[in-house]
Amino acid sequence: MQVIRFSDLIAQGKVAGKRVFIRADLNVPQDDAGNITEDTRVRASVPAIQMALDAGAAVMVTSHLGRPTEGEFKPADSLAPVAKRMGELMQRDIPVLANWTDGVDVKPGQLVMLENCRVNKGEKKNNEELAKKMAALCDIFVHDAFGTAHRAEASTYGIAQFAPIACAGPLLAAEMDAISKALLAPKRPLVAIVAGSKVSTKLTILKSLAENVDQLIVGGGIANTFMLAAGLKIGKSLAEPDLLDQAKAVIEAMKARGAAVPIPTDVVTAKTFAADAVATVKAATDVADDDLILDIGPQTAQTLADQLMKAGTIVWNGPVGVFEFAAFENGTKVIAQAIAASSAFSIAGGGDTLAAIAKYGIENKVGYISTGGGAFLEVLEGKTLPAFEILTKRAAG
Ligand code: 3PG
Repeated sequence: MQVIRFSDLIAQGKVAGKRVFIRADLNVPQDDAGNITEDTRVRASVPAIQMALDAGAAVMVTSHLGRPTEGEFKPADSLAPVAKRMGELMQRDIPVLANWTDGVDVKPGQLVMLENCRVNKGEKKNNEELAKKMAALCDIFVHDAFGTAHRAEASTYGIAQFAPIACAGPLLAAEMDAISKALLAPKRPLVAIVAGSKVSTKLTILKSLAENVDQLIVGGGIANTFMLAAGLKIGKSLAEPDLLDQAKAVIEAMKARGAAVPIPTDVVTAKTFAADAVATVKAATDVADDDLILDIGPQTAQTLADQLMKAGTIVWNGPVGVFEFAAFENGTKVIAQAIAASSAFSIAGGGDTLAAIAKYGIENKVGYISTGGGAFLEVLEGKTLPAFEILTKRAAG
């Protein structure tokens, strides 16, 4: 993907004194009092802003927060807690400006945060008039919101169409590079782990990866459906029997390419879904009618770990068992540790995956951890995200 990079504009001396509008993804989780409970996205957004300030630009940054009703600003929608956290990280006061679409007073060396852009009428539907107004606020538009790269909204897409220059910020560029390395030109074998409760929510991903990866490791409820498709009994485990044909089609598509979907040979079961349920390890062929499969067994985990150790590239989305419960965390833990120990380039993304990475403390041993939720999933589906599409178009002139 050929896009203009903000770092190149800076290197070319094109940023000093310019008005720079940065669209970040500062959509962070908050508790009922509005406190930020996880600040990865705030921290990940700082480099672009600092680069712009260091280059002598007048800097505006905005983001959506939640899914507010357009035209109806409520205090809970405010980016104020985010500005506070970012201010702590950057050691400066960051004023938050409301009603900013008609003009923003900001001078070179200054930084302002523009209030929740999803409160502006027309944002979600990428209204052209709104996009043009936002584009008129700046000389350079920097798209640095990978988490929102799958949305074509006024502050992510329309502004990129109409701003004098539209480029990729360092976070968006890093995500783009990591994705290209993992999926477009991967060192093989390429192993993907796709886990989650339902095949239906990840079917497009499974189908898309089935055309590319050398091994497709499935986990969670998805694995249960694949076990059914392989003729195994799964007791009362979560599964989608109506998607058996689709699961079989994925297995066949992989086989036809000489690739494989490894089916668990052993599992950890319980009679109830509870943290204190008795965990029983058994062969995958011995699952009883009243069993719930809550994790892969130790033999399966070891086999998968051995495969991950031999991989050239690993894509990880989803824990393979109920890792929140100690008795059913072994599979996810072994996989996480294998990814950490493997020399393969690894890329991981998705909410639960990040929680597992944090739990096993392997943040520094994963090649790239994506800040995208839905955006990361759409990349795995093989889609071209609107952000990349428009920035590529703008780079072409
Ligand atoms: C996310 O949290 O995945 C992004 O910020 C996008 O949010 P959205 O799903 O509300 O567009």
